[in-house]
Amino acid sequence: MTITVLGTGYVGLTTATLLAHSGHKVFAVEPNKERLHAVQSGKSFFYEEGLDPLVKHVIESGSLVATDSYKDSVPHSDIVFSSVGTPDNADGSPNLEYVFASARAAAALMKPDTTYVQKSTVPVGTGRKVQELFRSLGKEFGYVSNPEFLREGTALADTLWFDRVVVGSDDSDSASKVLNLYKSMVKHRSDIASIANLSAPKNYQDGAYIATSQNSAELIKVTANAFLALKISFANSIAKLADQADADVVEVMDAVGSDKRIGRAFLNAGRGYGGGCFPKDVSGLISSAQQYGVDIGIMQEAAELNASMPGYIANKIHDVLTHGFEGAKIAILGLAFKAGTSDARKSPGVSLANILTKRGAFVTVFDPKAIDEAREDLLSNITIARTTEDCIKDAELTCITTDWKEFLEYDLLKMRSEMQGDIFFDAMNAFDKGFVEKSGLKYIGVGR
Ligand code: UDX
Repeated sequence: MTITVLGTGYVGLTTATLLAHSGHKVFAVEPNKERLHAVQSGKSFFYEEGLDPLVKHVIESGSLVATDSYKDSVPHSDIVFSSVGTPDNADGSPNLEYVFASARAAAALMKPDTTYVQKSTVPVGTGRKVQELFRSLGKEFGYVSNPEFLREGTALADTLWFDRVVVGSDDSDSASKVLNLYKSMVKHRSDIASIANLSAPKNYQDGAYIATSQNSAELIKVTANAFLALKISFANSIAKLADQADADVVEVMDAVGSDKRIGRAFLNAGRGYGGGCFPKDVSGLISSAQQYGVDIGIMQEAAELNASMPGYIANKIHDVLTHGFEGAKIAILGLAFKAGTSDARKSPGVSLANILTKRGAFVTVFDPKAIDEAREDLLSNITIARTTEDCIKDAELTCITTDWKEFLEYDLLKMRSEMQGDIFFDAMNAFDKGFVEKSGLKYIGVGR
């Protein structure tokens, strides 16, 4: 097949690269010059484990061609994937300007039998509007909603060893065409994995291929993310209770999560969720429900609870500092919204650093990958350190906000000697309290 992928963000570049490794000719279309040049030179413009060697391989072989031209790509394609950005509107709904603009531009150039596949996360009902747009241009194409479930940091592994592929279409031929692409990827999986130096998750069982209606597929994506966000916010509200009631939320969730009906995943309390997906998908679901006249207050509560977590942690920090925030030197380790990515969008570490600074603390931050992406969201009087050592030097309190391996494995005796104070705030609940305290540091977690 010849395929065009519109947009080279996490989803677009991962999809384009994997399809180019699965026996297809792929065009990746990117209007941003800097991003385009990165891909053309065989690299991604963001950090994602295993992706660079795969991009390099297919750029060199010519099976992946990066271009900014719809004319050089779309007319030759059997399938066009749209994975363009959907930034937030001020009211929390996703801005679909690029979704419609790229559909319009592609429609003018697509062959009549080309299938249009929507991979961007869009509110339920958007596909029908895109099809109306096609009809208003005098065109008709097969349309498939094929939502993405990959996580940043494990984007390749999540796509290669998927739990499920969802194709939603009101046209079964178009749906089969897209399902077959994934089947071709599965055939090439072991070769791809060896180039990317990745291995299958333990006990992986082949994922499901799920065909649904177009609107259901659109709703599946946001529902899955909203439910995971709900689990995290639920864990965080229990953490607030555990703090008051002298219980440990980690013990609570370990036991609660061992009930197979509930499951342990996404019940880790801490500084809350961030990133390009959960905050946006939750507010997107709320605004889409409002448009259909449905009240989905449970998600509003989850979003508010999540937004409260950096402030809640700041208050806990305030309570343990001997002289309050004024003049206190605080080290924040972690600006990426989670480990394994350079992405600092809606990062709880950044929010916490800004809150502490506004309240009078001297804040120093460090992250192994996300400093560049976090820089413009950080208040100007925050010091950016170049190493973990620089960051914690002379700090009264060190707070871990991202679970990077290098923070989890840092020698805590060394940390104790490098800091001026002795307070270790584990905003990820990622450490064992007894282990931390053996080094002479005082341990504080969220709900522990
Ligand atoms: C998410 C979905 O998991 C993925 O399926 C979808 O396609 C895109 O959105 P992503 O945003 O990359 O992926 O990260 P994820 O690993 O889900 O974590 C999201 C946020 O939740 C991170 O800030 C993480 O630290 C936080 N989190 C996760 C918690 O606070 N507690 C948890 O128990 C799990």
